Amino acid sequence: MSQQISRKARRIIITGGAGFIGSNFVYHWCQQYPNDRIIVLDALTYAGNRATLANLEELENFRFVQGNICDRTLLDSLLQEEQIDTIAHLAAESHVDRSILGPGAFIETNVVGTFTLLEAFRQYWLAQGKPENYRFLHVSTDEVYGSLETNDPPFSETTPYAPNSPYSASKAGSDHLARAYYHTYGMPTIITNCSNNYGPYHFPEKLIPLMTINILLGKPLPVYGDGQNVRDWLYVRDHCQALDLVIHQGKPGETYNIGGNNEVKNLDLVNLLCELMNELAPDLPVKPAQNLITFVKDRLGHDRRYAIDASKIRRELGWTPQKTVEEGLRETIIWYLENQNWWRPLLSADYQAYYQASYGQKFT
Ligand code: NAD
Ligand code: TYD
Repeated sequence: MSQQISRKARRIIITGGAGFIGSNFVYHWCQQYPNDRIIVLDALTYAGNRATLANLEELENFRFVQGNICDRTLLDSLLQEEQIDTIAHLAAESHVDRSILGPGAFIETNVVGTFTLLEAFRQYWLAQGKPENYRFLHVSTDEVYGSLETNDPPFSETTPYAPNSPYSASKAGSDHLARAYYHTYGMPTIITNCSNNYGPYHFPEKLIPLMTINILLGKPLPVYGDGQNVRDWLYVRDHCQALDLVIHQGKPGETYNIGGNNEVKNLDLVNLLCELMNELAPDLPVKPAQNLITFVKDRLGHDRRYAIDASKIRRELGWTPQKTVEEGLRETIIWYLENQNWWRPLLSADYQAYYQASYGQKFT
């Protein structure tokens, strides 16, 4: 559904547009706003995949730029050359387990990179005379709020920050910067904090694609700890719709929490995945797939529960998630079954080295 009937075309940079949520958002935006100028800025780290956007490369209004958000010279020239009015900032180091193995890259991209982007946009926005319609959307995570106990109320926009991992601490730092740029300079930043996304183009290291792929390959399914940790699962296309609304109708200086209203324990989720795979995937090497479930050593500092209270975005912008986790998972599994040429090349030697470093100790 298109947002507005008469709407001035925007000129948008989407950082991290070759990653999971970023690429889904780029597809969403191209579909909804074919007259906009769309620039993807992505460094193509291990998590970025230009092939994901191959269908868009020949569009005249689309441009892919391989570059780092820490590169101020590049940012200055892109903003100026493309006369940008909107930034959707999704570039990040995003995996908690990698932040435990090596936090440095998280500080560099998530904190220093976000600062560099904010500062470049501020100078440019000032030079343009502080236009009111400019927007800087900073996409963040519910993990900045820390961990909930079973009966705690879900995170709201006023829950105090208490990040527990190097990843969430680096995202918290970047959120504070985005907030400060509104309060100090009046720059029109908006922050969103969302729950765990899932859907097409999700890199194999994250829970849902990792389990789906391991089932297909007949490999053990490593469930951390007792498997009772809870996450609130949000279908990525529902998330993209929320980000779109926030850019068009959200208030500068505000934060919006975005959740799927789908709290599930990890073990229940893995069991559901196994059931769906038993039904949907032909010729599984191990059937039923549940036989692959293996409890492994817990993640260090593993947050027990995340849950989002999304009543503000529902009330103010009219957004609610459309997909239940059963519907979304079924679609996602079918996508992974039909798009093996997308994910198989990602199981590279680098990925195997990461897998060994992250899981080698856990299985013992
Ligand atoms: P991702 O890891 O799949 O993709 C990140 C993208 O950013 C990749 O394409 C990568 O190449 C690019 N990138 C990394 N460092 C860069 C740099 N220095 N300069 C330019 N590009 C760089 O991440 P994702 O899951 O799509 O997450 C997108 C955003 O949403 C992140 O800010 C993340 O913190 C947030 N988020 C994600 C989830 C989730 O469930 N995936 C949940 C909450 C919030
Ligand atoms: P993940 O997809 O890494 O997202 P996040 O840590 O940002 O929530 O993990 C989701 C949950 O699944 C989390 O509680 C950790 C757990 N998990 C496993 O049990 N095994 C795994 O192999 C992975 C990757 C995650």
